[in-house]
Amino acid sequence: MSATLPSTIFIPKNARLKHFLGVLRDKSTSTELFRATANKISCILTVYATENLPLKTIEVVTPIEKTKQLAVSVELIACPILRAGLSMLEPFLVLNPDSKVFHIGLKRDENTHLPQVYYRNIEPEQGNSLVFVLDPMLATGGSLSFTCSQLKAAGFKNIAVVCMIAAPEGIKKMQDEHPDVTMTVAAVDERLNENAFIVPGLGDAGDRYFGV
Ligand code: PRP
Repeated sequence: MSATLPSTIFIPKNARLKHFLGVLRDKSTSTELFRATANKISCILTVYATENLPLKTIEVVTPIEKTKQLAVSVELIACPILRAGLSMLEPFLVLNPDSKVFHIGLKRDENTHLPQVYYRNIEPEQGNSLVFVLDPMLATGGSLSFTCSQLKAAGFKNIAVVCMIAAPEGIKKMQDEHPDVTMTVAAVDERLNENAFIVPGLGDAGDRYFGV
């Protein structure tokens, strides 16, 4: 994850991931099913997003003998973008239970489509951590780019993004403004509509996940 590398977008070719995305997009999917499906998609994405975490060799004593094994050697931090990013937090923590959690609360202005900050809990970087920003939707890219800028301002150099659905416009913004940030994305959709909603997308992820 060097700052000189172009933005890397990884789209896993996983059959179940594609299947669950269809369920998530379906407007007749209930809140209960939406939550369960978002959870499964987040699990799958987390597996792919953490595939290349740095490892160190450790010694483990099994009931049979002493052996050399591998253990994750980097401090992980999850940073969900409220609200919708909370849908991805629990599955991330199931697989990365020793992670710290930052929160950033952003609400996109309905007219300007620019993110407005209403909560920020980001500590300064103290070592060489890897931050995973969690947000199911990358539309204009304003929210994600702002969050990455906030993290960089706090000293973080290693940032990755996990996202369910992205629009080409948002990807371009991230490539222009944060070419060092790696993104794991389940799907890249066609475009944004006049309200800056992703087409075909899935609607408002936060509203659908929280049932409001
Ligand atoms: C949505 C979504 C992203 C953001 C994407 O959140 O969950 O955070 O918009 O749009 P952008 O790429 O154009 O910035 P929203 O602002 O609706 O808040 P919510 O999560 O509380 O629903």
